[in-house]
Amino acid sequence: AAAKPTAPAKRSEFELFTFNTWLFNLDTELCTVLSSISVACKQIAAAVGRAGISSLTGVAGTGENVQGEEQKKLDVISNDIFSMCLRNCGRTGVIASEEEENPIAVEETTSGNYIVVFDPLDGSSNIDAGISVGSIFGIYEPAEECVVDMDDPEKTLSSCITNVCQPGKNLLAAGYVLYSSCTILVITTGDGVFGFTLDPYVGEFVLTHDRITIPETGMIYAFNEGNYQLWDAGVKAYIDSLKEPSKWGGKPYSARYIGSLVGDFHRTLLYGGIYGYPGDKKNTTGKLRLLYECAPMSMIAEQAGGKGSTGVERVLDVVPTKVHQRVPLFVGSKKEVEYLETFFAKKA
Ligand code: AHG
Ligand code: MN
Ligand code: MN
Ligand code: MN
Repeated sequence: AAAKPTAPAKRSEFELFTFNTWLFNLDTELCTVLSSISVACKQIAAAVGRAGISSLTGVAGTGENVQGEEQKKLDVISNDIFSMCLRNCGRTGVIASEEEENPIAVEETTSGNYIVVFDPLDGSSNIDAGISVGSIFGIYEPAEECVVDMDDPEKTLSSCITNVCQPGKNLLAAGYVLYSSCTILVITTGDGVFGFTLDPYVGEFVLTHDRITIPETGMIYAFNEGNYQLWDAGVKAYIDSLKEPSKWGGKPYSARYIGSLVGDFHRTLLYGGIYGYPGDKKNTTGKLRLLYECAPMSMIAEQAGGKGSTGVERVLDVVPTKVHQRVPLFVGSKKEVEYLETFFAKKA
């Protein structure tokens, strides 16, 4: 496990505790992958920040992705940037992206063979309005020998799928980058959660949040209540109860929802509260994807002292059967998620 890199007292005003400094405590192969991801996210931050100037807003014209969503230009560009950085680091065995129908075997691997799952641009419907968006990633060890046999694509694909469809509890590392009023990389390698803010003058991610812990309770909830009529009775009763004088001390809860998981999650991580995307009558398993949205965020939440639940089970215990499998997600403060779960238990 990583050494506890609580930043040492500054020896001079010019000393920076950067993401690369933090990485030096990690295993070199994993460090190489994470460093390449940080470069990809710096490039995406630049593309997102200049989208309006370099006409990168709007749809890509590539039609729908495997999710049935109309791809934005920046969905495609972010996916390309992520894939190229991961290929070029020479430590990646398989990549699985929200924007790729199938996982991809990486030939340019010298060692490491890591399995990297990612959502290259999360909340992309917000891009044209300049609202916060993000990238999400998770890294696994291979579950089995990575097969890359150009003469046997079937065998290669099935090996990729086996390596990618691992439960979140196997994650070696999980993280996200929020592109907002600041660009902040939040990451865990299983030994606490750390936040690094991009210093635009230096071009480095600098440690600003040394061991983030999520408040045990929080009176902010982030649900898309436009779906209220589609929810089952338990979820409706839960949401209704948040509007009664709060069980925690008199005030009803506040609703905050920006439509970017990374933005809503980051606020929940720092302020406390709960983010939820329930299943509903139209989509019984909800909208969020287990592999590159729900599992990485749940690992971060747990490492910060919070919880990630499908309502009936721990997200990190769910074994994916499909690469783009969706699960309901309730993630945030431990006591808030546990309170939500009582509404599912009642129903059972
Ligand atoms: P993505 O942009 O990667 O497809 O993810 C969008 C997700 C998530 O970021 C957000 O919380 C949720 O979709 C918003 O969904 P609704 O618009 O249905 O509320
Ligand atoms: Mn999408
Ligand atoms: Mn997403
Ligand atoms: Mn996305």
